[in-house]
Amino acid sequence: MVESGDKIDALLHETRRFEPPADFQARATISDAAIYDEADADPEAFWARMAGELSWFKPWDQVLDWQPPFAKWFIGGKLNVSYNCLDRHLEKKRNKAAIVWEGEPGDWKVYTYGDLHREVCQFANGLKSLGVQKGDRVAIYMPMIPELPIAMLACARIGAAHSVVFGGFSAESLRDRINDCQAKAVITADGGYRRGNSFPLKATVDEAVAETPSIEAVVTVRRTGTADDLMTEGRDHWYHDLIKDQPLTCEPEWMDSEDMLFLLYTSGTTGKPKGVVHTTGGYLTGAYTTTKFVFDLKEEDVYWCTADIGWVTGHSYLVYGPLSNGATSVMYEGTPDYPDWDRFWAIIEKYRCTICYTAPTAIRAFMRQGEEHPRKHDLTSLRLLGTVGEPINPEAWMWYWEHIGGGRCPVVDTWWQTETGSILITPLPGVTTLKPGSATRPFPGISAEVVDEKGKPVGRGEGGLLVITKPWPSMLRTIYGDPERYKEQYWSRFPNIYFTGDGARTDEEGYFWLLGRVDDVINVAAHRISTMEVESALVDHPAVAEAAAIGKNHEIKGQAVAAFVTVRKEIDPTDALAAELKQHVTKKIGAIARPDEIFFTAELPKTRSGKIMRRLLRDIAEGRAVGDTTTLADPNVIQKLKDQYAETEE
Ligand code: PRX
Repeated sequence: MVESGDKIDALLHETRRFEPPADFQARATISDAAIYDEADADPEAFWARMAGELSWFKPWDQVLDWQPPFAKWFIGGKLNVSYNCLDRHLEKKRNKAAIVWEGEPGDWKVYTYGDLHREVCQFANGLKSLGVQKGDRVAIYMPMIPELPIAMLACARIGAAHSVVFGGFSAESLRDRINDCQAKAVITADGGYRRGNSFPLKATVDEAVAETPSIEAVVTVRRTGTADDLMTEGRDHWYHDLIKDQPLTCEPEWMDSEDMLFLLYTSGTTGKPKGVVHTTGGYLTGAYTTTKFVFDLKEEDVYWCTADIGWVTGHSYLVYGPLSNGATSVMYEGTPDYPDWDRFWAIIEKYRCTICYTAPTAIRAFMRQGEEHPRKHDLTSLRLLGTVGEPINPEAWMWYWEHIGGGRCPVVDTWWQTETGSILITPLPGVTTLKPGSATRPFPGISAEVVDEKGKPVGRGEGGLLVITKPWPSMLRTIYGDPERYKEQYWSRFPNIYFTGDGARTDEEGYFWLLGRVDDVINVAAHRISTMEVESALVDHPAVAEAAAIGKNHEIKGQAVAAFVTVRKEIDPTDALAAELKQHVTKKIGAIARPDEIFFTAELPKTRSGKIMRRLLRDIAEGRAVGDTTTLADPNVIQKLKDQYAETEE
């Protein structure tokens, strides 16, 4: 974590280098660095060439219309994402596995492209029968079961935008997201399986939709058998009943390239989650192209992205990227440690996965459990590994390379964001010399730079702020219903340049090394949480007067949430209260945001203008020398806090 305005130090001096293995390179889709020059020379032409590999009902008239900060791509073009992910593969791949699904209890199911097409069409017809139409929004709140991608593709087919809400979010979070976009329907399941137990979803949906006037229908998939007595007549429908008698085909809507495909809520620097809007033609071009080149997809690959579809990684690299490429995409319902820590490796062995894309937080957890878990399994089917979501420390990279990849498989460290829609900084495995811990170079057609506070590029070897200087097809188009926030958040810091919120440095060879967020966003286990969201959840509790949340370095999760809390005068700050506050955050936002640590304090360090100085709290929590305190209103607060904190840590 680095602080805006602070000098960003070069963190690592990593000297290890890994050339693309000769046999990998010999077969690689891209084995020549010339693609960078082609794309650099004319990025629009490059993206247009890639978009041309998709199926369009009507070609575009113009590649890009850039009225900063608003971009439109492939203007006038008409296409349908579900057509591109399904119909166009049917002639050659009707019986090829599209989704290989493994449930946590060990049940499994394979959908061929033919199967998936049929069920998506039936469900699309089912949604239409409930009155869902082109231009509507549909919320999806589901476990990792095949009906989740089916629901997304069905929405895409009829032109309704989906908003997938991660199944770990609370009823209140779901409610707020539904209300923000005025969704017409929710698609859910009775529950899902996690660590051997079932968890409820339909009951949570019921709680949420009690306060969502826009919702007309709730569709529920039966997975755990726990919602049979929760069905409200008129509003609720079982998925299996709804699709049963539907026709097996459904004409895909002709969507404009700039029609919204989905929105996905993510944390920003203020408390209110923002609905990141992605459109049809540009998004698909980005997801398609990066999946094809970064993962070097081949016809026979068995590709597994371990992310939950509730996050953007699952959208782009479990569903839209692989399916638009006609690939086989593996999907797993549960956790990596159930029934034991070798579950991922068992899945790779069982389905002979060739590519595995996961998060550094998972790799660090596996490292801690020891090599004996992967050693139990035959992982020789693997040929390529990937990581995403947070910086990967070189030691974790080396462990992954050695113990999972057997020293044979390139590791692609991919940097991107919910807002970017697809990977922007990444190796190309058949071209790039890898350095553990570096995401290496911008993808062809992407212009990234590290700049100082004034927007001036810093030299090689220097740290600064990561910006993207040219528009790209899969960039977010706006924040749903709030274009001002879109402008303010991403485009106000530097004119006409996209500000990522991340710090980075480049090395002497121009490789990018990501340094974490520079704003008030915490990256917990590769998921973004805003400090403000946690703080407003805490302050919502009647015992709390004031709260400051920070990200504290954590060995496995990357960062963990720690909260400094001031209670109201009459309240006793007990352990029981701390436990209650953690529970309160879970209820308001979801377990993902639950603080690991609550620290009670009489006062919080503030500037004279009353801003909480989270930077100093981070120093205290991480046991560092406290940084510059000259702007503190009351310098004594820090010493008191330090002493108190040291006492509780003992
Ligand atoms: O800080 C960066 C970090 O994750 C943030 C984006 O989070 P989110 O929108 O939830 O998307 C996660 C999956 C794309 C970024 O601003 N991040 C993501 N990938 C990397 C990373 N940090 C370093 N290295 C990465 N490979």
